[in-house]
Amino acid sequence: MATPNIKGYPPLVSRSDRAKQNGHRSVIVWFTGLSGAGKSTLAHAVEGRLHKLGCRTFVLDGDNVRHGLCSDLGFAKADRSENVRRIGEMSKLFIEAGVITLTAFISPYQDDRNKVRALVEAEDFLEIYCHCPLEVCEQRDVKGLYVKARSGEIEEFTGISSPYESPASPELLLNTSLQSLDECVDKVLALLQQRGIINC
Ligand code: ADX
Repeated sequence: MATPNIKGYPPLVSRSDRAKQNGHRSVIVWFTGLSGAGKSTLAHAVEGRLHKLGCRTFVLDGDNVRHGLCSDLGFAKADRSENVRRIGEMSKLFIEAGVITLTAFISPYQDDRNKVRALVEAEDFLEIYCHCPLEVCEQRDVKGLYVKARSGEIEEFTGISSPYESPASPELLLNTSLQSLDECVDKVLALLQQRGIINC
């Protein structure tokens, strides 16, 4: 929807002022993958390491988004797209605020992820594919949802009765069933160093 009569106030404090004050750049680190692939675990572990290094960080995941901002949304395709769109817009604000923003959502559709990528500058979006075979996620079944999906109690469950489109060219591919959590965290931190987000 066009918003022609809304004029912004020019900020006195810019994103680069914030980066200077923080000692690091901001970026969206977008974790995608099946339920149970380890997205939230990894996002929080990366945040823990960055926090110890003195970085400003925040994790957006189902716990703090689907219960509030997106509590009106379900899991039909249009709802998931709207979920990802809102998270993308919110992440854009967070990076303006100078925060390394780690998002952990299934975000199953490539087109939705691409739209978030297109919202920001190319260097501001890092897509990280948490790859874990469906059989492994299902065997773990941490939340007991795969059993319910198989029995039909939960409909449109990703990987069972709703699709997951693997990222075509993510900035990083992690095999979360083969690599340890520490190894995965190291790889994400190395990527942030390579891309000049952090320099420690
Ligand atoms: S997304 O597809 O819109 O990105 P999101 O990451 O917010 O999904 O939420 C996924 C979480 O919601 C899953 O980890 C699981 O705990 C729960 N969930 C409940 N119903 C479903 C469903 N039909 N498909 C996938 N996840 C579901």
